[in-house]
Amino acid sequence: MTNILVIHGPNLNLLGHREKKIYGLTTLPEINALLVAAGLHAGITVDVIQHNGEGEIITAIQQAIGSYECIIINPGAYTHYSIAIRDAIASCGIPTVEVHLSNIYAREEFRHKSVIAPVAIGQISGFGPYGYVLGLQAALNILGKVPTVEA
Ligand code: DQA
Repeated sequence: MTNILVIHGPNLNLLGHREKKIYGLTTLPEINALLVAAGLHAGITVDVIQHNGEGEIITAIQQAIGSYECIIINPGAYTHYSIAIRDAIASCGIPTVEVHLSNIYAREEFRHKSVIAPVAIGQISGFGPYGYVLGLQAALNILGKVPTVEA
């Protein structure tokens, strides 16, 4: 059985309420329901967690070893400065896809740098909640579950 872990970082529990012009109206439970349904459709298990704390995220990444084949992470603001989360991703040996709702390169300059990107397989940024669906597709492709090119 393929297991994918989705980790939402700080303040993403406030989606639907938080800076609606940037992040939209979709709530985190709605995004999670979408991911779990897409996982069921693909015949895999998708588990979803949200943590505000850096240490909690690091612990979740460490505990994923041996239980998950791929991680999809939106590290929130930690994206821009958490070397500790970057090290956890680099250390766990689990392929990781970085997702952002907003286009971080079209926003304030401090958001243009991701310290996570160099240790992720790739990054999806700017597609809103649909970015998580794209992230799941990317994870399935990394795991060889969906072909790169449809015949
Ligand atoms: C975010 C972008 C980050 O810069 C910000 O701190 C967030 C959300 C996004 O999904 O667009 O919390 O990761």
